[in-house]
Amino acid sequence: MSATIIDGKKISSDIKAELAEEVAELKKTGIEPGLTVVLVGDDPASHVYVKNKEKACELIGIRSVKHQLPADTGQEELLALVDDLNNDDKVDGILVQLPLPEQIDEHAVLLAIDPEKDVDGFHPLNVGKLMIGESVFESCTPSGVIELLKRYDIEISGAHAVVVGRSNIVGKPAAMLLLHNNATVEICHSRTKDLAAETRRADILIAAIGRPKFITADMVKPGAAVIDVGMNRTDEGLCGDVDFEAVKEVASAITPVPGGVGPMTIAILMRNTVAAAKARAAGKK
Ligand code: GUN
Repeated sequence: MSATIIDGKKISSDIKAELAEEVAELKKTGIEPGLTVVLVGDDPASHVYVKNKEKACELIGIRSVKHQLPADTGQEELLALVDDLNNDDKVDGILVQLPLPEQIDEHAVLLAIDPEKDVDGFHPLNVGKLMIGESVFESCTPSGVIELLKRYDIEISGAHAVVVGRSNIVGKPAAMLLLHNNATVEICHSRTKDLAAETRRADILIAAIGRPKFITADMVKPGAAVIDVGMNRTDEGLCGDVDFEAVKEVASAITPVPGGVGPMTIAILMRNTVAAAKARAAGKK
């Protein structure tokens, strides 16, 4: 039997509709959430992401501002802008689109963002809070993964979850959130011995590797839920880390690419922006 296809586009729309209702209520109390996005250079993929973020803001009723800076922007100039945004009372969320041009130290920029406005959840303080289960801003993509599992009633508690990939923005935080939801968690990576033997143990398999169709059907336990975080641009178009056509015949549930995890990242970013506005407003009282 073929797997349930997890519809990230629909769940993302549902979340955005829920947020639109919440924002309408907040506006009645004088709170208008605002997101500022900073885009440096002309990476085409980044431009698409930023456009989608702007569209989502508009749909929900979040005020959105974009700062577009040239590719040769210097570190000091970018840090000065971040400082202005930190001190701007109208700005609830700050997102500096990654990757940044190579003359800029990404870590220094992320560190400069006020943790209370860090809706990406990339500031080390927020990474630490995620670790101890006290997140205000969970990193968007991993949090989107958890939301998909929950909204499809996939039991996380007690499941054996295998995360393939150990990046700071997906693999590690995804593993931590699965752990907080009581999964038994295993993180695999390029040095893992006999990777297929490990992935075959997974009730929940998270693929965050960055290699097209890397997870093949023989690596998946029959009945597993498979979440594909991959976004690989190939000659045949956008493709995930999972060999979707073959794996969907083995898994019980699977996310497609596109239309799986991707739309969830933006939905959670919107949720974090609304949370930032509420937290700042509560702090002013
Ligand atoms: N580049 C690709 N995805 C993201 C994201 O979620 N946040 C930021 N800031 N940059 C990105």
